[in-house]
Amino acid sequence: MAKAAKTIYVCSECGAQSPKWAGQCGDCGAWNSLQETVAAPTPKADGRFSGYAGAEDTARIRNLSEVVAQENERLPTGLDELDRVLGGGLVTGSVVLIGGDPGIGKSTLLVQALALLARDHPAIYVSGEESAEQISMRAHRLGLPTEQLRLLTETCVERILSLIAVEKPKVLVLDSIQTFYTESLQSAPGSVAQVRESAARLVRYAKQSGTSLFLVGHVTKEGALAGPRVLEHMVDTVLYFEGESGSPYRLIRAIKNRFGAVNELGVFAMTDKGLREVANPSAIFLSRHQEQVPGSCILVTREGTRPLLVEVQALVDQSPLANPRRVALGLEQNRLSMLLAVMHRHGGIGMFDQDVFLNVVGGVRVTEPAADLPVLLSVLSSFRDHALPGDLATFGEVGLAGEIRPVPSGQERLREAAKHGFKRAIVPSANAPKRAIEGLEVIAVGRISEAIDAVVN
Ligand code: TYD
Ligand code: MG
Repeated sequence: MAKAAKTIYVCSECGAQSPKWAGQCGDCGAWNSLQETVAAPTPKADGRFSGYAGAEDTARIRNLSEVVAQENERLPTGLDELDRVLGGGLVTGSVVLIGGDPGIGKSTLLVQALALLARDHPAIYVSGEESAEQISMRAHRLGLPTEQLRLLTETCVERILSLIAVEKPKVLVLDSIQTFYTESLQSAPGSVAQVRESAARLVRYAKQSGTSLFLVGHVTKEGALAGPRVLEHMVDTVLYFEGESGSPYRLIRAIKNRFGAVNELGVFAMTDKGLREVANPSAIFLSRHQEQVPGSCILVTREGTRPLLVEVQALVDQSPLANPRRVALGLEQNRLSMLLAVMHRHGGIGMFDQDVFLNVVGGVRVTEPAADLPVLLSVLSSFRDHALPGDLATFGEVGLAGEIRPVPSGQERLREAAKHGFKRAIVPSANAPKRAIEGLEVIAVGRISEAIDAVVN
């Protein structure tokens, strides 16, 4: 019973503490909000944490100029696309969370990366999900170098930490955080409290020892309640796997990165030999039609530090419903509604009685406003049943006043389009290059009406 005294239940709504679990918080009345946590140490009787600090504590407050920043050491993982999303390699002592749906390829990626890393640095793969035989079978099938890679199957965090303290690995993979548990809590593995506390212990170990950590987290179907979301603030880097179930392509996106650009994309293809890097992603997301079809428009987006060409498709159809549908896959639905309103108000084209479906080909998710103009043009193209030229690429943000606003890195986007053989580009006036780009006719537009004129008249 001595163990029970160490944990308390804290309401996630109001922070009230209770020694026992209850369905309703006694203080604020919220339902189902009590979570098990380890009780914080009470202030010492000598007052060190309750007002007066000792001499050694005040010395810890320093001028920022006194602190000498050290350049982070980075280890190349052997997979260039993974290095890219990490911001140029794995920083020593950093904690990377890799989230994604079950079965999308997290374990595959990490076994591949760790086997390559283990050739130069001591590395341990800790699995709480698969048996050693399963992992070995997979590694052999993928033809990975396995001589140096160490393996541990264990789910108790305390035991993991005591075992790896002997080997002192430089890189550690923990697959997956939902299967681990710490002995200081009684809740089941996978519960919010266990996930958070286990991760906190592992993060502390990483920071103290300078070990780099990969934490795998499944995104649960119920909106990631006990999933990686609760860990995002604790770790240095959060990577999410994206991809459609039917498509072999897997995108790894950096959602948060203390050591690099966010929204950086790494592109892989799942093959029978594991994940293969895709060095030229623009080429795979463009479906080159035999002849041009209405409703398709090429967007030059910029994810992280590299431009990417993707195809936006729209289908506009007479709606049988009183409230026509607005469906957007890979783009934000509210943005689509807003753009349709702008098109009506400032372009004079209304679609009140039309269903509008929108899709970004290849399972890519585009979050930047540069997609506005391509979205409008593809919708318009489908509505008018008028195919856009196949050699046309475009980007630009659309404002509520009907103006076409510039987006960052216009030059770079235009060069990417020219590189892939596009001959024409419709871009915001402020993004028009000062010097002509060879082989590319740039059509600069300042207002939505000009953009409409440029394609349908
Ligand atoms: P896995 O890495 O186990 O997923 P996660 O760890 O994210 O749950 O990936 C398993 C899926 O990948 C499985 O559906 C089969 C597929 N796969 C391949 O297509 N080729 C391969 O070489 C491997 C290892 C897996
Ligand atoms: Mg797995």
